[in-house]
Amino acid sequence: MKPKILITREVFDETLAYLAEHCDVKSNQADKPFDPATLALHLQDKDGVVCCLTDRIDEAMLASGKRLKVVANIAVGYNNIDVPACTKHGVMVTNTPGVLDDSTADLAWTLILATARRLTEAEAYVRAGDWKGWHLKQMLGVDVHHATLGIIGMGRIGQQIARRAAGFKMRVLYQNRNRWPADVEKWLNAEYATKEQLLAQSDFVVLQMPYSPATHHYIGAAELKQMKPTAILINSTRGGVVDDAALVEALKNGTIRAAGLDVFENEPKLNPGFLELKNVVLAPHVGSSTEATRRAMAMTAAKNAVAALTGSKPPNLVNPDAKTKA
Ligand code: DGY
Repeated sequence: MKPKILITREVFDETLAYLAEHCDVKSNQADKPFDPATLALHLQDKDGVVCCLTDRIDEAMLASGKRLKVVANIAVGYNNIDVPACTKHGVMVTNTPGVLDDSTADLAWTLILATARRLTEAEAYVRAGDWKGWHLKQMLGVDVHHATLGIIGMGRIGQQIARRAAGFKMRVLYQNRNRWPADVEKWLNAEYATKEQLLAQSDFVVLQMPYSPATHHYIGAAELKQMKPTAILINSTRGGVVDDAALVEALKNGTIRAAGLDVFENEPKLNPGFLELKNVVLAPHVGSSTEATRRAMAMTAAKNAVAALTGSKPPNLVNPDAKTKA
């Protein structure tokens, strides 16, 4: 008998076809997100689940999914999953590192350029019919080239963001849990800095560290005050690393110049204060959303799930300590 697997949201045809070769698949191609009670019900007879960052997999969910052997997240971040609880229950957790690094770095750069050059504000102005002609002081932005870029979280994606800065002749500072060796720093063309140094010296601060209780509100009112009044904050990682209420105040008061945000606390609800501000560029968590990358992420998750359900070690196992079920 094939193992039973649940896919919680819509995926691509090739992902479904691949999973169907190996598993008895229950999919949710209607893409209406399951509420927790419905998800728990679906998990009762499943051996595996391919899920998304919108699904919370915690102790309560595992109490329903007693047969579960694997939770395969279609994302590199896995803060939607209680990994210690999965480990305790012998459930493997997997993610999708690598395949989305370049696309997510590109989106961070999109936000850097759009905020610096006030692109969404300028577009709204043109669309509203307010543009009456060229003007020397019109929509003055700030230069990205030769500016200082501070990257907090120098993992795979942070590194790709740093590498792109060379084309803009930028000075790059970084902060990371661990300092990289000199040869890697040379390749990145980046200097290690303390959080305080980075915040005080950067013209653009890009957040790319994972979200966890340790990084909750990593940037709040105090940190925003440490930044230059001309600085721009980019959050392309997870809502929750920034205190959004404090950020709205800082943008209103001119504590910093602008922000570019792809992620929010409590998304898709966002702090209504953002909607009233012109100096913030808003995107709906689309960092990895290119056709090729989202296909690759879904297939990576599917391959992780199938490996786990057919007795192999999944390539992207997050909790190797999980004592897997027979
Ligand atoms: C991730 O992979 O963590 C991204 O945020 C998903 O878009």
